Amino acid sequence: MSQAEVQNWVQSVTGASQLFLERGKPHCRLVKQSIHTHFRRLVPILSMACFENLSASILDVGAGTGALALDLAWRAGGKAFVTALDNDREALKIAQGISERLGVRISALVGNAYALPLKDAGQDVTVARYLFQHLTEPSAVLSQMRRVTRPGGRIVIIDVDDDVALCDPAEQHMGNLRKALGVLQSERGGNRRIGRHLYRLMREAGLMAIQVIVIPFVRMGLQNGRSRELEAFKVERVLEERKELLDRAIITARDFDLAVSELEQGFSQDRFEMDADFVATALVPQ
Ligand SMILES: C[S@@+](CC[C@H](N)C(=O)[O-])C[C@H]1O[C@@H](n2cnc3c(N)ncnc32)[C@H](O)[C@@H]1O
Repeated sequence: MSQAEVQNWVQSVTGASQLFLERGKPHCRLVKQSIHTHFRRLVPILSMACFENLSASILDVGAGTGALALDLAWRAGGKAFVTALDNDREALKIAQGISERLGVRISALVGNAYALPLKDAGQDVTVARYLFQHLTEPSAVLSQMRRVTRPGGRIVIIDVDDDVALCDPAEQHMGNLRKALGVLQSERGGNRRIGRHLYRLMREAGLMAIQVIVIPFVRMGLQNGRSRELEAFKVERVLEERKELLDRAIITARDFDLAVSELEQGFSQDRFEMDADFVATALVPQ
């Protein structure tokens, strides 16, 4: 996968997604997230050995608007059969729409991760990206992923852990907001510190050859210029949660607004920031 191939693919996906980016269209934020996290998936993750020479049945659980499913289908160059599963029919319609505009084939399947509507041992590779942080019972979903993956097949889970983050100069207020967003996620039944638990979940699921790779993402302030679109996306993403955070009294309006001002002011500062994706892979025993 050359740099030029990756750039071209990112441009194509961005172009094909525009139709679904108009303000007010449902799932606009998920499509934006998919575009803005493209390099997080493509360069470090799809270059991993387990994604080389893909000619397999691949299942993406909680595929949303198709971020990873589309990348996998493109990477496999037509040699793989990629199923994008989600319980959100509208998100899958967007994934399908983008795939048609790109001429990349994926099969959209509406279903619940807790009861995957697929036969046992039918998948070579089963992946889930940014799904596990939302789950009340991650082990139940992992057990479903194991059931539908063939013996010797691979399971890959990509997710976050909010404690793996650095920043210089240090923030004054954003830490409060990040903590509040973590509390909100756990009140909704999820866990934004799921990354550290992936190893244990995989062990308990009886998987073998487990590897957990932590991939850091570094942003170096102004060196590479600014992206107004990305900045607007970051602000929009937190503002969307304001009402619920305040209604649940997880953070005060003052602390929330101070954090958002700091976020906005930070865009013009030459700040070093780092966070990470946790990529856990394992094999289903033969
Ligand atoms: C943050 S999005 C991630 C989307 C995509 N994987 C990505 O990397 O951008 C989480 C997705 O999981 C889906 N989801 C959550 N719980 C689910 C469940 N029980 N069954 C199926 N999908 C689920 C949501 O509808 C949403 O599309």
